[in-house]
Amino acid sequence: MASETITIIDNRTGKQYDVPITDETVRAIDLRQIKVKDDDFGLMTYDPAFMNTAACRSAITFIDGDRGILRYRGYPIEQIADKASFLEVAYLLNEGELPTKPQLEQWTGDIQYHTYVHTNIIKFLEGFRYDAHPMGMLLGIVGALSTFYPDAKHIDDPANRYAQRVRLMAKLPTIAAYIFRHSRGLPYELPRNDLDYIGNFVNMTFSIGGKHEPNPVLQKALEILLILHADHEQNCSTSAVRAVGSSGVDPFSAVSAGIAALYGPSHGGANEAVLVMLDEIGSADRIPAFIDSVKAGHGRLMGFGHRVYKSYDPRAKLIKAVADDVFKQTGLNPKLEIALELERIALSDEYFIKRKLYPNVDFYSGLIYQAMGYPTDYFTVLFAMGRLPGWLAQWEEMINDKEQKIARPRQIFTGKDERAFVPMAKR
Ligand code: ACO
Repeated sequence: MASETITIIDNRTGKQYDVPITDETVRAIDLRQIKVKDDDFGLMTYDPAFMNTAACRSAITFIDGDRGILRYRGYPIEQIADKASFLEVAYLLNEGELPTKPQLEQWTGDIQYHTYVHTNIIKFLEGFRYDAHPMGMLLGIVGALSTFYPDAKHIDDPANRYAQRVRLMAKLPTIAAYIFRHSRGLPYELPRNDLDYIGNFVNMTFSIGGKHEPNPVLQKALEILLILHADHEQNCSTSAVRAVGSSGVDPFSAVSAGIAALYGPSHGGANEAVLVMLDEIGSADRIPAFIDSVKAGHGRLMGFGHRVYKSYDPRAKLIKAVADDVFKQTGLNPKLEIALELERIALSDEYFIKRKLYPNVDFYSGLIYQAMGYPTDYFTVLFAMGRLPGWLAQWEEMINDKEQKIARPRQIFTGKDERAFVPMAKR
């Protein structure tokens, strides 16, 4: 059998090196031995944006971007999305297996027990302006939770980590709902532990005077959307959680870094950007001109393209089916008609075909959230609620991985060489 190595010849010195290949990967640190002089630093890899660098081993989520495959712990997303509950999926991601009935009851009960937040949280919220962006409020409040639970810093204790995982899963919907109410000046609605996870959240957002008539189709749609967002291996926000968590900080701080990363328009903020884009286009007859301007390099078609998926995002396919169910309930939305036409044109346009740009998870999710009654700037909060179990599972995996140390990339220094300080009078 051929040896599982790669031979590198350094043409500067003529020296030859055999570097092991494991899991189709070479270790960047193995290149360090390649030097011209003994006191050289040795060769490094340069990979801005981590386009081709594996930063960890992970058993949580599998993606094949070329074939449009997404699996959580081995289960295809198409099988989980409408058969499991969000809490079942959260358990699966974190514990590695689908829960048995008693396990699910225990997990659900633990979460229901912790849904209340300290009333001081309301004082924080009141410090935010009425038009504060919900994601800015969310990342601030989640980060601040570490001050309420200083025991969370004991990250080497598995039971303690479980307790913080439960707290985050339980309190994020409450905080998210309070943010929703704060933006509207509505009184806060306390959690109701007789309702399920999604039902409780929807009640806390939409209940008026203690009354809310739940729509089971919309609640199921929200649950599916959260499941579709639950994990996506080493994406920007998950990498942020891992990188910040690798410093040994508590999980509230690490998750708040994930929320900050998700806020950006190239990541979770894209669902908000899609709606802004559809508003700007305004009507179907203006689509061709919009597509031409994107092709000329003036902005991007938001909700299209993905770093990993170079075919149709499997989540986008499932979301389209959810959109059909939701719009049957809420009525057709003129923006949906623009989106459908935009997709049809883009998928047949050479520019998008050549670059393998397909709709991603954000293309339709915003339209659905809007139809459910959530405002544009709130969409990414819903994404964060969905992604939380993934962040927690990845954080836990990172803590248990003996190979992980504090994340600390190298750089290629491009600045000035040493020079003497110039006094003010001589500058
Ligand atoms: N519209 C138009 N052109 C695009 C788009 C787009 N949405 N996305 C990529 N391209 C083009 C680029 O201009 C580039 O063209 P070029 O080769 O002629 O220069 C080519 O496709 C490759 O683009 P990159 O930026 O190199 O691709 P990358 O993998 O770095 O970007 C990203 C991925 C950020 C998602 C990008 O496709 C994008 O900005 N999409 C719009 C924002 C969006 O929908 N983000 C959500 C991502 S999914 C998520 O986070 C849940």
